[in-house]
Amino acid sequence: MKKLLYQFDTDALPSVFDNVVGYDGGADHVSAYGAITADSVGGLVEGAIFTRALKNKKHTAIFIGGGNMPAGEAVLAAVRKKFFAQFRVSVMFDSNGCNTTASAAVAWLAHGRSLAGKRAVVLAGTGPVGQRAAALLAHEGASVAITGRKREVVQAACERIHARFGIVVDAIEAPTLAERGAAIDGAHIVLATGAAGVALLDAKQWQDSPALELLADANASPPAGIDGVSASDRGASKHGKILFGALGFGALKLTLQRACVARLFEQNDLLLDAEEIYALAKTLVGRSTPA
Ligand SMILES: NC(=O)c1ccc[n+]([C@@H]2O[C@H](COP(=O)([O-])OP(=O)(O)OC[C@H]3O[C@@H](n4cnc5c(N)ncnc54)[C@H](OP(=O)(O)O)[C@@H]3O)[C@@H](O)[C@H]2O)c1
Repeated sequence: MKKLLYQFDTDALPSVFDNVVGYDGGADHVSAYGAITADSVGGLVEGAIFTRALKNKKHTAIFIGGGNMPAGEAVLAAVRKKFFAQFRVSVMFDSNGCNTTASAAVAWLAHGRSLAGKRAVVLAGTGPVGQRAAALLAHEGASVAITGRKREVVQAACERIHARFGIVVDAIEAPTLAERGAAIDGAHIVLATGAAGVALLDAKQWQDSPALELLADANASPPAGIDGVSASDRGASKHGKILFGALGFGALKLTLQRACVARLFEQNDLLLDAEEIYALAKTLVGRSTPA
């Protein structure tokens, strides 16, 4: 019985990255569909749930991705609405790598230490990765703020986090370097989740910040999101702080995404979203090998 992964992507062109990881995670065949919406996905789900006997349904699974997380969440809700009784298959949700990337970053930040009671600031935390990371940092007991360039956008992201996780995250409007520097004042943890190639913080700003203990930058495309954090840093100690760069924790992200795909084929009723993916990340962190 072939392991079939159905990649439902909200972008017009489905992600090649997710497609490759689907195969590397153990699927025998990955069928990628683009421009998927909550309205269009129903028939595809029916094809996935009605075709195989109960004992073989675990060999069919669904991966939901794409750059637009709210659209991806709507697709996830539509997929789940189609399930009933034993007519279901396992599903992984990872719009723009939100869950796997945030889980890898936060699992490394929390590896071998407690984040409880720490103040964490997620710079440019309004995107998919930042929102998930904020929720996971709060789950680890940190008090969390996210920044963005426009108050209403940051506020809306905080409201989405609250609606999804029941967690209160502070909104900080910080469109300039100086304002982001002020936003990290007193923080113990800074995680940058800005768009690729966007510089968010100067080296001097974090190096001169006495409270700061841990920094991570999700952006792998130069220039760095946090100046002075090297993409390959994985627990490097500089200026008395511990640093993680995008490639440094990216190895865990890849290992995690593959492991999640593999898990989808173990049973037919799994949902792998933030909580489940983070739990798996915690079991893999420190053991991951570079991709
Ligand atoms: N290391 C890994 O394994 C890995 C895997 C996947 C993704 N990533 C990286 O993770 C990062 C976050 O991904 P994402 O999908 O959440 O990002 P995203 O949605 O593209 O961007 C995140 C936020 O960046 C801010 N931003 C955009 N342009 C900006 C500018 N010119 N100046 C200041 N802020 C700007 C926006 O916030 P506001 O509009 O609210 O200011 C946006 O919400 C990206 O760099 C991505 O490449 C890393």
